[in-house]
Amino acid sequence: MKPERQTILIVDDVPANIGVLVDFLEEKQFRVLVARDGEEALARCQLVKPDLVLLDVMMPGIDGLETCRRLKQHSETVHIPVIFMTAMTDSDNVVAAFEAGGVDYVTKPIRITEVLARIHTHLALREMHRQLSAQNTLLQEANDRLLQAEKMASIGQLAAGVAHEINNPIGFVNCNLGNLQTYVTTLFGVIDDFQQAAAAARPVAARMAELKEAAEVDFIRHDFASLMDESRDGLQRVKDIVQALKDFAHADNANTASADLHRGLDSTLNIVSSEIRNKADVVKEYGDLPPVECIASQLNQVFMNLLVNAAHAIAVKGVITIRTGRAGQWVWIEIGDTGAGMNADTIQRIFEPFFTTKPIGIGTGLGLSVSYGIVKRHGGRIDVHSELGTGSQFTVHLPIHREASP
Ligand SMILES: Nc1ncnc2c1ncn2[C@@H]1O[C@H](COP(=O)(O)OP(=O)(O)O)[C@@H](O)[C@H]1O
Ligand SMILES: [Mg+2]
Repeated sequence: MKPERQTILIVDDVPANIGVLVDFLEEKQFRVLVARDGEEALARCQLVKPDLVLLDVMMPGIDGLETCRRLKQHSETVHIPVIFMTAMTDSDNVVAAFEAGGVDYVTKPIRITEVLARIHTHLALREMHRQLSAQNTLLQEANDRLLQAEKMASIGQLAAGVAHEINNPIGFVNCNLGNLQTYVTTLFGVIDDFQQAAAAARPVAARMAELKEAAEVDFIRHDFASLMDESRDGLQRVKDIVQALKDFAHADNANTASADLHRGLDSTLNIVSSEIRNKADVVKEYGDLPPVECIASQLNQVFMNLLVNAAHAIAVKGVITIRTGRAGQWVWIEIGDTGAGMNADTIQRIFEPFFTTKPIGIGTGLGLSVSYGIVKRHGGRIDVHSELGTGSQFTVHLPIHREASP
């Protein structure tokens, strides 16, 4: 399995005991190292990390059992299998060897073919263990991603439902506002007409002027216009939020085309330059990017959200680094900042719609959720790395061609 030779460390204070064994193992293509006592064995293990240790029990200084215990205390050496070489095979001694962390023992005088068989067994076991834990890590990561994807899918459904429900009332309130404006304007006109018609009859005109003043008609006329403007503005904001929720939840039917992402990044940087200029220096480390099949305007929106967030995270003055590169059939775009960073609880929630840690008026909590939706629909993903007080990196991974998506 491994192309390089495997290393075995033999620890024994009597060289005569092991000469034959060393020759034999070297003949079998092992790399063999020798240590004379426990201290030396520990030092060599730290340095070389052998694949297996053959350990004499009775040695001057720290004995084999203690040596083994210490090996098992360090994370770097805990996984190295230890086979004891011992002359004492009564039950107590054997149990002590296993308790110290040994995986096996061979009896002295050593029978080299038996040693070889046991070495093979334990190296194979160790390799299996290594593969298992690697697969376990992969599984764990896949599981985490799945959980996150499921959470986002259910939030997406919720968002789509809310957007749909809000759309309808917004529609008729907007329509009614238009009618109201027409009606009220007509009424103001009628008041003016009345006043003109009454000009000839003095007492009526005076009475009308009185009534108008008492009802503050001039003020109402003036205030009405700004109330209308404000309401329209409010409605527009609600519409924008609903649109963002829809963007998060739904596929857009805009067409994909091959695009140069560096151009997209540069033009987006231009748009947000006023937000960034006094906050951060921008460092570009662009790699080689092929054209990517995408909806460029949507990806620009993602870049914009990431860049604005990076600027927001920087309190006084910092650096925003934009790096890009290609990995096989994928490209990646990383936007990093030297800002405040995030704690684990925040990282867990940043892609949820309306999750924000910013004051009202500054944060809507929609930027990253919309970005998540866009990147997902492109068949990609956003990875986040962040350290409190140091900064954050957001990495967008995208397939170059849509069929390469997972
Ligand atoms: N670069 C960053 N550094 C630190 N925190 C960030 C960064 N980007 C996003 N966040 C966190 O994620 C939250 C959600 O971001 P986002 O969805 O863009 O909404 P908003 O920016 O409106 O708060 C932010 O409020 C902030 O807490
Ligand atoms: Mg934002």
